[in-house]
Amino acid sequence: MSMNQALWLPAKGATPEVRPAPVPTPGQGQIVIRAACVAINPIDWILQQVGSLIFPFLRYPLVLGWDVAGEVVAVGAGVSRFKVGDRIVGLAVGQDKSVNDPVEGAFQHHPLLRDHMATPIPPSLTWEQAAVLPLAISTAACCLFQSAHLALDPPTVSPHSNGKTVLIWGGSTSVGSNAIQLAVAAGYEVVTTASPRNHAYVRQLGASAVFDYKSRTVVRDIVQFLKGKTLAGAVAIGAGSAPLCVAIMGACTGRKYVAIASPPVSFDDAPEHGRRGPWLAGKLFRMVRGTVGVMLRGRLKGVHSGFVNGSSLLNDGVGRMIFTEFLPGALASGQFRSSPEPIMAGAGLEAIPNALERHRKGGVSAGKLVVTL
Ligand SMILES: NC(=O)c1ccc[n+]([C@@H]2O[C@H](COP(=O)([O-])OP(=O)(O)OC[C@H]3O[C@@H](n4cnc5c(N)ncnc54)[C@H](OP(=O)(O)O)[C@@H]3O)[C@@H](O)[C@H]2O)c1
Repeated sequence: MSMNQALWLPAKGATPEVRPAPVPTPGQGQIVIRAACVAINPIDWILQQVGSLIFPFLRYPLVLGWDVAGEVVAVGAGVSRFKVGDRIVGLAVGQDKSVNDPVEGAFQHHPLLRDHMATPIPPSLTWEQAAVLPLAISTAACCLFQSAHLALDPPTVSPHSNGKTVLIWGGSTSVGSNAIQLAVAAGYEVVTTASPRNHAYVRQLGASAVFDYKSRTVVRDIVQFLKGKTLAGAVAIGAGSAPLCVAIMGACTGRKYVAIASPPVSFDDAPEHGRRGPWLAGKLFRMVRGTVGVMLRGRLKGVHSGFVNGSSLLNDGVGRMIFTEFLPGALASGQFRSSPEPIMAGAGLEAIPNALERHRKGGVSAGKLVVTL
C-alpha cells in the first residue's frame, strides 16, 4: 500500500482527473481498504454540473464517490468488527459536511472508511453486487428511520406486520429498491410506483401494490387503493414526486409526512458548451419555487415534509443500526437482496467519467452502474 491514485474533482465545475492521492493511515474506528468496485450515484455527476449550488460547504480538490466494496488492508485502534483480508462494503463519507476530506472519497484505490458505516460481504455476494448498496440504503434509511423524517420502527431479520402502510414513490430507483426492503423488514406494507417493465421487480422486493408513475390517474388510483389503510408516511424519490406524495398524504388517514429524497428539478440537461450561468440561475429559481410550493401545498393539507441528506446517518445512530446491526445478518441470510442489479460500466478509475456521463444521459432502469478498480 505504498501508492494510491484517485479520481479528483480539482475545482468547482472542473473535469475530473486521475492523479496520485495520499495513502491514508486509519485512525480510531477507521479502516483502509483496497477497492475492488465502486458504484455510480446521480450526485457524482450532479456535483460536477452544479457544484456549490447543492453542496456549498465542499472544499476542493475533492475525491468523488460514495459507494465502494473492497478488501481490508489496515485497521485503526478500536476496530473489532473487521480484520485485514475481510471483504467489506461501505459508505465513503468524504463529501459529508462533517467530514469534507478527500481521503474518505470512494473513487480511489485505497479509501478510508468508518468502522460503523461498513458491513461484511457474505460469500453469496460478488464485489459488484455488494457495491450497489451504500448510498442507496443510507438514503432510504434516513428517509424511513431518522427521527426528523418518518421515524419508523427499526428493521429486523424476523419482522412482524404492524398493520401500517408506507408509500414509496420511485420504487425501481436504487434508493427505492432499498427503501421497499427496509420498510418491509420493519413490518410495514409498501405501496410503490415504477414503470410497468419494473412492476414484477418491485413486487419481488416486497411491495404489495405498484402503480405506473407516468399514468395520468396515478394520484387518484393510489388514494383509492389506500382507502381504509393507516399510513405511516411517504418517501418521495424522483424529480417532481414530492407534490404528488403531498397530495396523496393529504387525502389519506395516518401520519402526514413526506421524506423528500430528490430535488424538485433534474440536472441532466446541463449545456455541454458555453456559459452555465443562465442554466444554473433557472435551476435555482425552479428549485426554490418547487420547494416553497411543496411547503405551501403541504400546509394547506396538513402535510409536513423535509429534504433528506443521505449521509446524515453517519452521526445519529441510524448508520450503526443499518451497517452494524441489520445488514450483516440480513445479507448473509438472503432476507435483504443487494439491489438493484449491477451493470458493468468499465474497469479502472479512468472509466468512471464515462460511467458518470452514461448515468447522466439516463442509461439505467432498475440497475446500478458499477466500475471495477
Ligand atoms: N437526498 C439524498 O441524499 C440522495 C441520495 C441519493 C440519491 N438521491 C436522489 O434520489 C433519486 C434516485 O437516485 P438513485 O440513485 O436511486 O437513482 P437511479 O437508481 O439511477 O434511478 C433510476 C430510476 O429512476 C426512475 N425514475 C426516473 N424518473 C422518475 C420519476 N420522476 N419518479 C420516479 N421514478 C423515476 C426510473 O424508474 P423506471 O425505469 O421504473 O421508470 C429508473 O429506474 C435521485 O433523484 C437522486 O438524486 C438523493
